[in-house]
Amino acid sequence: MSAILAVGWEDDLALTQQSVWQLLCAAVNEADDPLRTPVLGTVNGSGAEPVPALRAVVLRAADSATGHLSFHTDARSAKAAELAHNPQAALLFYSPALKLQIRVEGTASLHVGDAIARQQFERIAASAPHTLLPYLGAAPGTPLEGLPPVLSRRRWQSAELEPAWPCFAWGVFVPRRIETLLLDARGHRRARFDRAGTQWSAQWIAA
Ligand SMILES: Cc1cc2nc3c(=O)[nH]c(=O)nc-3n(C[C@H](O)[C@H](O)[C@H](O)COP(=O)(O)O)c2cc1C
Repeated sequence: MSAILAVGWEDDLALTQQSVWQLLCAAVNEADDPLRTPVLGTVNGSGAEPVPALRAVVLRAADSATGHLSFHTDARSAKAAELAHNPQAALLFYSPALKLQIRVEGTASLHVGDAIARQQFERIAASAPHTLLPYLGAAPGTPLEGLPPVLSRRRWQSAELEPAWPCFAWGVFVPRRIETLLLDARGHRRARFDRAGTQWSAQWIAA
């Protein structure tokens, strides 16, 4: 964790909100930071009753100005179908080092085949090409006869990654509520931040 948080942030609502964004923005670039791999929750409405669906994703971008949190995924995945059907979604982050849980509610949408997706695809193809390799294979969840083909560790060229493009989805999560829970021996601190338009309200709540 490289974010430098203000002294006493945990006792101040505004500083707590600021710290959340500092932590998430820093986590994007820190491979070992647990805050980089939140759990994304969606609603699976394909059965008789809607059921929650959870999975880890890598946080690829965090923007404190827009409040957007971004990830990339396979356009053929279950989560993509779930979000197309129902954009209501949640993210759960936990930092064991800080004993800080961050719960986020909002909506998530996927960019597939558009200019925003293309910009991100090209950026990732140049900076982290290995993360696009899953999109070259069979659709997630496809039964296999055996183990998947071994992926080469060599440097992949942009042109070789192009077949991944139709399957690439850039997910943008727009929060409407953020809750923090800091486990603290003095008394746990739980705060709720709600967005109305461009404004956020803040409130301490019982843990
Ligand atoms: C640490 C970790 C990070 C992951 N990051 C991503 C990711 O960024 N995008 C993604 O689509 N799947 C990611 N996965 C795989 C998903 O958790 C999930 O297995 C896969 O996307 C299929 O999910 P679905 O069938 O619910 O769509 C990650 C898994 C782990 C364990």
